[in-house]
Amino acid sequence: MRVLKRIPELACPICKGDLEESECLLCPACGRSYEIHDGIPFLLGDDRGTFAEEIAIQDRVAGEYEEKRYQVAYSRRYHDWWTGRMLAGVNREGRILDNGCGIGVLFKRDFSDRVVGLDISSQMLKRAAKRSDQLVLGNSQELPLKDASFDLVFSRSLLHHLPRPELAVAEMHRVLRPGGEVVLADTHSSIISALPRILARKGERFSGVHRNLTRKVISSWLEPYFQIREVSYFGYLAYPLLGFPDFLDLFRYIPAKPLLETALIFVDEVLSRTPLIRTQSWGIIVKAVKPDLRSNGGTTFRREEAAL
Ligand SMILES: C[S@@+](CC[C@H](N)C(=O)[O-])C[C@H]1O[C@@H](n2cnc3c(N)ncnc32)[C@H](O)[C@@H]1O
Ligand SMILES: [Zn+2]
Repeated sequence: MRVLKRIPELACPICKGDLEESECLLCPACGRSYEIHDGIPFLLGDDRGTFAEEIAIQDRVAGEYEEKRYQVAYSRRYHDWWTGRMLAGVNREGRILDNGCGIGVLFKRDFSDRVVGLDISSQMLKRAAKRSDQLVLGNSQELPLKDASFDLVFSRSLLHHLPRPELAVAEMHRVLRPGGEVVLADTHSSIISALPRILARKGERFSGVHRNLTRKVISSWLEPYFQIREVSYFGYLAYPLLGFPDFLDLFRYIPAKPLLETALIFVDEVLSRTPLIRTQSWGIIVKAVKPDLRSNGGTTFRREEAAL
C-alpha cells in the first residue's frame, strides 16, 4: 500500500505542506523531495548534522534492544509494566503517535493498527518494521506531520536525548488535536540516578546531550502548551536490575527469577507512593492535555497539577 495511504498524517518537515507520492515523496509547496526505503519514508529536514552522533549511537544499539532489552523475559516484563503505567488512564481512541519509537513498544497491542512510529534511527525502524507498516524516519524537533492530526502522543525515553526538547514539546502540541493527550516518560534527576549518569557519559552508548531531567525542567517545557494533569515517579530497584540487560545484566545470576521479579516490581510500586522517597527515582512520567479552547469558552485553562 502507498505510504500516504498507510500514514495520511505525513507532511513536509520543513514547510509542513501536503506531500505527493511517486517513487519518492514530493512537497509541491517548497520543492523538496524525500526518499522511501523499504516502504519507510525518510522525512528529515535540513539540520541533519546536529543529530549525526545520536543517529550513529542509536543505529549501533538497535540490535541489542531487539535481542536483549525486549527479548530477555524479565526485562520484557518490566518494560511492559512501565508502558502499562504510562498508558493507565490515558485515552487510546483515535490516532496515536509513538514519538521516538525505537523498535516499538506499542506494537502488537489491541490499538496498534492506529499507532504511527517515528524515529530518527533507520536501524531502530528496520526492526520496528517487523511489527508495523506505519513507520516514518523523522526528527522529533521537526515533525513531518500535519497540524492537529493525532489524538495521543506517547513518548518513552525521548526528551533526554534531544538537544532542544522544548522544540519537540512544541511540535507534539502542534500535531495533537485540541483535547488530545501527551504522555512522557524520561530519566529523572535524583540521588540514585546522578552517579550512574556521570559514569554512562564516559561510555560510548550515550551522546553528550543525554542527561537526567528534573520535574521542574520538564514542567517548564510543557506548561506553555499543555495542562499537566499527572506527574508520577517510578524505577528504584527493579529499574536497574531488570530493565537493561543490554548493558547491565546482574539479574542473570539470580535464582528464582519470576518470584524475585514480582517482588522487585511490587517494592518499586510501594516506593513510588512513599512520600519523600518517591521522588528519588530513575524515571518520571508526565501526562498532560492540549487545552481544547472551544470547549472552554475561549478562556485559558487553569493549571491543575496533581503530584501523585
Ligand atoms: C532510549 S530510546 C527509546 C526508544 C523507545 N521509545 C523505547 O522505549 O524503547 C530513544 C529513542 O529516541 C530516538 N531519537 C533520538 N533522537 C531523536 C530525534 N531527534 N528524533 C526522533 N527520534 C529520536 C532514538 O533513535 C531512540 O530510538
Ligand atoms: Zn515543503
